[in-house]
Amino acid sequence: MQIPITLEDNAITHHDFIPEIEAGLLAQSASISPKFLYDPLGSHLFTAITLLPEYYLTNIEKNIFTQYQEQISNAVGIGGTLIDLGAGNCQKAESFFNSIKPSSYLAIDFSVEYLQDALKKLAGKYPHIHMQCIGMDFSKQLMIPSSITSKRTFFYPGSSIGNFLSLEALQLLSQIKSQANDGGLLIGVDLMKEDSVLMAAYDDPLKVTAAFNLNILRSINSQLGSNFRVDQFHHKVIINHTENRVELYLEALEDLTVSWPGNSRAFKMGELIHTENSHKYTMESIKQLLKSAGFETTQIWTDPKHYFAVIYAQ
Ligand code: AVJ
Repeated sequence: MQIPITLEDNAITHHDFIPEIEAGLLAQSASISPKFLYDPLGSHLFTAITLLPEYYLTNIEKNIFTQYQEQISNAVGIGGTLIDLGAGNCQKAESFFNSIKPSSYLAIDFSVEYLQDALKKLAGKYPHIHMQCIGMDFSKQLMIPSSITSKRTFFYPGSSIGNFLSLEALQLLSQIKSQANDGGLLIGVDLMKEDSVLMAAYDDPLKVTAAFNLNILRSINSQLGSNFRVDQFHHKVIINHTENRVELYLEALEDLTVSWPGNSRAFKMGELIHTENSHKYTMESIKQLLKSAGFETTQIWTDPKHYFAVIYAQ
């Protein structure tokens, strides 16, 4: 069958990201946006992370989805369009196809190449669901095509919301609320817990997370034409209790200089490049955030240890 693939947002070109990447690299405290973690290899490495026993998030979320499948689909309701934010391999959304029975599925991700492959496989399995994908950096602005007129259920699993600072998270959630019409948001959020569990999840003994983090340098090399050397950096994790988040960095193992067309940046040994924040919420803080974004009601499902929360907000 024909698979309608929408490639909107031609904005995903190398050129457009150069100013953003340069600004991050030239800042006194250097940083790279976590969205650059998800180049084709990075997307596969992230999938590998989700298979690690130490990375409890994916497993626990899946258990909550399975255990409360009926309650969740009752809350969400049958039919409409399932809008998957950061769809990746589309597996989580697929697990709801038989209970929510969406008439259409809109998969949105930054890395559209990876998404297209996933969607092609899925379209063959569910010929009755109309499928579309859009490459969009919704961390900047969320724009759902007005052609989607059926009930909109936004699906934002995996605690991806954790990447955002609280103001950015509020902005995104407010945009979701204002574009949900009479639908809602099904979201997965990681909860604050003891350091040892967080450390094992973000600095795993197989070093898959280290590879995932270091790969951002190769991703940047291909975007920017820079000459980062992966072997000159080290994966570093810090738990920031003031900000309630896990922070990922790349630490320079020696004095070095990275250059790219038109510019360069020197790093001293020990200097850090910030690559990711992973905010951890409490049941109260996430409910409060959703309320501030304009959502009126929330239903929460969690696991016995309260490691993770799944919420339907309307
Ligand atoms: C996809 C943002 C939810 O923060 O746990 C996993 C990304 N980074 N291991 C997370 C990630 C390192 C992940 N999110």
